[in-house]
Amino acid sequence: MRFNYPIGSHTRRLRLMLPIETERLILRHLQARDLEDYLGYRNDPEVARYQGWEHITREQAETTVNDQAILAPGTPGKTFLFAVELKSERRLIGDLGLMIREHDPHQGMTGYTFSRAYQGKGYATEAFIGMLDLMFDPDGPNMHRIFALVEPENTPSVKLLERAGFRREGHFIRARWFKGRWVDDYQYAMLQSEWHEKRPAK
Ligand SMILES: CC(C)(COP(=O)(O)OP(=O)(O)OC[C@H]1O[C@@H](n2cnc3c(N)ncnc32)[C@H](O)[C@@H]1OP(=O)(O)O)[C@@H](O)C(=O)NCCC(=O)NCCS
Repeated sequence: MRFNYPIGSHTRRLRLMLPIETERLILRHLQARDLEDYLGYRNDPEVARYQGWEHITREQAETTVNDQAILAPGTPGKTFLFAVELKSERRLIGDLGLMIREHDPHQGMTGYTFSRAYQGKGYATEAFIGMLDLMFDPDGPNMHRIFALVEPENTPSVKLLERAGFRREGHFIRARWFKGRWVDDYQYAMLQSEWHEKRPAK
C-alpha cells in the first residue's frame, strides 16, 4: 500500500478534484444556490429519522454551505459533504458525507442524505460509486478504508451499502444512545483493495 498522502501537504490538489461527473449526476462542493434544496430535505422528518439531527435552521444551513464551499474532500479531521446535483434539473438532490479520521487520514466514515423526491431512482447508488471511485483512486486521495454505521432497521441504507459491495463487519447490540433510546448498529466497510476487485458495474 502506498501512503502518498502526508497530512496537510496537498490540500490544494484535493480541492481541485471536484467536480466529477457520473452518468446523471455531478458531485461537487456545496454552493450558496443549494441553500433552499439543502434546507428542504434536511428538514424532512422521514429523511432525518436515522440521522443525528431533527431539523436544521437557515443559519445552520448557511454556515454549513459557507464552510463546505472552501473545504477540500479528504481533509483530516473534517467531514466533507459531496453535493449531488442532478444534471437534468441542475439542482441539489442530496449529499454524501465523508468524515476523515484526524490522525489516520487513510480511513473515513461515510453517510448519505437524499431528498425523498429523488429516492428510489438509483441516484444515491450512482453518487456513492462515484465518490468511492474518487476517494480510492491510488493517484488521488488513495484512501485505504471507508466504513459506515447503520441502524439495521434503516433498510434503504443497508441496501445501498450492500449494492455497493460493502462487507458487514459487525452487529453492535444497543450500542448507541440515539434520540431517546439505545439502538443497534451494523458496521460495514470497504477496503481500497476490495473496491478495485469487486466494484459494481456502472
Ligand atoms: C439511504 C438513502 C440515501 C438510500 O436511497 P435510495 O433512493 O434507496 O437509493 P438509490 O437512489 O440508490 O435507489 C435505489 C432504488 O432505486 C431503484 N431504481 C429505480 N430506478 C433505478 C435506476 N434507473 N437505476 C438504479 N436503480 C433504480 C432500485 O431498484 C432501488 O430500489 P430498491 O431499494 O427497492 O431495491 C435514502 O433512503 C436516504 O436518504 N435516507 C434518509 C437518510 C438516511 O437515513 N441516511 C443513512 C443514515 S445511516
